[in-house]
Amino acid sequence: MTRTILITGGAGFIGSNLCEYFISKGDKVVCLDNFSTGHRHNIQGLLSHPDFKLIEGDIRNSEDCINAVNGVDFVLHQAALGSVPRSINDPITSNDVNVSGFLNMLVAARNAGVKRFVYAASSSTYGDSESLPKIEDKIGKPLSPYAITKYVNELYADIFSKTYGLETIGLRYFNVFGRKQDPNGAYAAVIPKFVMQLVNGESPVINGDGNYSRDFTYIDNVIQMNELAMSTTNSEAINTVFNTAYGDRTTLNDMVTYLREFLSKYDASINEIPIIYGPNRAGDIPHSLASIEKAKKLLNYNPKFSFKEGLKEAVEWYWENLK
Ligand SMILES: NC(=O)c1ccc[n+]([C@@H]2O[C@H](COP(=O)([O-])OP(=O)(O)OC[C@H]3O[C@@H](n4cnc5c(N)ncnc54)[C@H](O)[C@@H]3O)[C@@H](O)[C@H]2O)c1
Repeated sequence: MTRTILITGGAGFIGSNLCEYFISKGDKVVCLDNFSTGHRHNIQGLLSHPDFKLIEGDIRNSEDCINAVNGVDFVLHQAALGSVPRSINDPITSNDVNVSGFLNMLVAARNAGVKRFVYAASSSTYGDSESLPKIEDKIGKPLSPYAITKYVNELYADIFSKTYGLETIGLRYFNVFGRKQDPNGAYAAVIPKFVMQLVNGESPVINGDGNYSRDFTYIDNVIQMNELAMSTTNSEAINTVFNTAYGDRTTLNDMVTYLREFLSKYDASINEIPIIYGPNRAGDIPHSLASIEKAKKLLNYNPKFSFKEGLKEAVEWYWENLK
């Protein structure tokens, strides 16, 4: 059966990868995006596909949301303003998009009778909880406006499932990376930013001593989680949240070492570029590591890409697409 899937934020990093994947599976895809941080070039190859429809619109505008959910079976809600520092600099806009926009989408999805609303939650919801690995039902206090917005998403989704019977699943993404992630701009994520700098012969700047660690998660594992969350019939899985990660952690120092090693295959001088160390960043937690037991048990999640395997693919993609 052909599914019609609305992917909000479909021109962004994760959204455009989801658009490509579901089109390749034979689904119909509607992409809603306002191109604030996403790019037309991310979906260029899909624009002429008969099963792909782009709606240029804003989730802060409820009419755009109503228009986008029309005739849709599933929503994969990715649209948001990412980045902790962005939310610290401008909490109002982050809140408008991430909370009010989210609520608009929930209301539109409920009114349209969509089968399920799967949304991008965040590992930032673990906040100041120091326990490792992170387990879904044990969170701390948020450490940034961004983290608040993502936690509020979970609270709203929970209320919408309990009050209106809307099926929801939240995916707490852990530092996702891979093809199409934007290396440019003040709020670029660390991996594409460092790749870009190294390719340009510049020194990457690590915030802190480089011993902070993250559960860096390759995009293909995230795609798998979206597919599983959308299609599961396991009632224990529905109306809950899942860590979406690989389940291993890598320090920033190791990450840069791998990056230099993989990039030096193309340009040997990259291995010699020195790393600069700067101060720690506000809102950063020292370590992040997901337990993926819940996803394995309830969704049969089986991540295919370790950090190193994913990084190799990502580096290859950047080398071919940035040069
Ligand atoms: N990348 C990660 O590591 C990560 C980690 C945790 C959570 N997330 C969440 O995953 C989702 C996707 O993140 P991403 O990394 O692909 O970021 P991204 O910035 O590449 O994609 C976000 C997309 O949403 C669109 N958008 C923003 N505001 C909008 C609005 N008002 N109306 C319509 N579209 C709007 C942007 O134009 C962009 O295309 C976000 O919800 C983000 O908070 C990402």
